[in-house]
Amino acid sequence: MVEFKRVSHVFGSSWALKDVSFALDKGGFLFLTGHSGAGKTTLLRLMYAGLPLKRGHASVAGFDLRKLRRGHVPELRRRVSVIFQDFKILAQRSVFDNVALALEVRGVSRQHLERRVRAIVRALGLENKSYTRCGHLSGGEQQRVAIARSMVVNPKLILADEPTGNLDADLSTDLINIFKQFNSYGTTVIMATHNRHILDMVPDAHVLHLENGQVTETTLPNQAPAEPGGLL
Ligand SMILES: Nc1ncnc2c1ncn2[C@@H]1O[C@H](COP(=O)(O)OP(=O)(O)OP(=O)(O)O)[C@@H](O)[C@H]1O
Ligand SMILES: [Mg+2]
Repeated sequence: MVEFKRVSHVFGSSWALKDVSFALDKGGFLFLTGHSGAGKTTLLRLMYAGLPLKRGHASVAGFDLRKLRRGHVPELRRRVSVIFQDFKILAQRSVFDNVALALEVRGVSRQHLERRVRAIVRALGLENKSYTRCGHLSGGEQQRVAIARSMVVNPKLILADEPTGNLDADLSTDLINIFKQFNSYGTTVIMATHNRHILDMVPDAHVLHLENGQVTETTLPNQAPAEPGGLL
């Protein structure tokens, strides 16, 4: 589903990623870990073509990122859903509208759309807020809207950047269970997180640990760490 070979990324004169290689099979669950500034968001941005791949090679959901033309980016984004660290939801629009928008832009019929939006909004415990403007929601509620919006389209791959950052322990557990459920239906999940408790909740998941833009530890098979070091 995702393969990176010797990928590096530089912002100005600072290296955000150095020589990152890994492969994740379809249906896998991968955590990206590492301190703030380690390169997690940069790696996710490359995966959804939010940054151009200039060094190394990578393929995501069947797309060769090195050869990806601008015109093909929407096609990639139909298969790959992203949950951003800062949500990027529309504050003036309701929960229902924010989630529905993801289906509207894909041309889904109104009847099908209403059914799917209601089901996912319920699954995320937001049904009594369906018609509330997102600007009036708490941080954790907004985060759940962002998650509902990414999941409602049934993506092949979900990229989630710290999706539990604003949630308390109970909600984080519920949320991870939702990700696990989608994963068990075949959706590949890649999630950046600082939180060790979240890792413990998905014991079968793989881990890719970054330090200063380099992979220092990983449980993915056939992946040599950048520097000698034990597996997690
Ligand atoms: N647009 C940018 N311009 C310049 N430097 C950037 C940019 N985005 C990220 N960086 C730098 O690249 C490095 C990696 O940043 P990145 O956002 O990928 O880290 P992160 O692991 O996601 O951190 P956090 O846990 O705080 O979200 C950092 O040193 C950061 O300052
Ligand atoms: Mg980040």
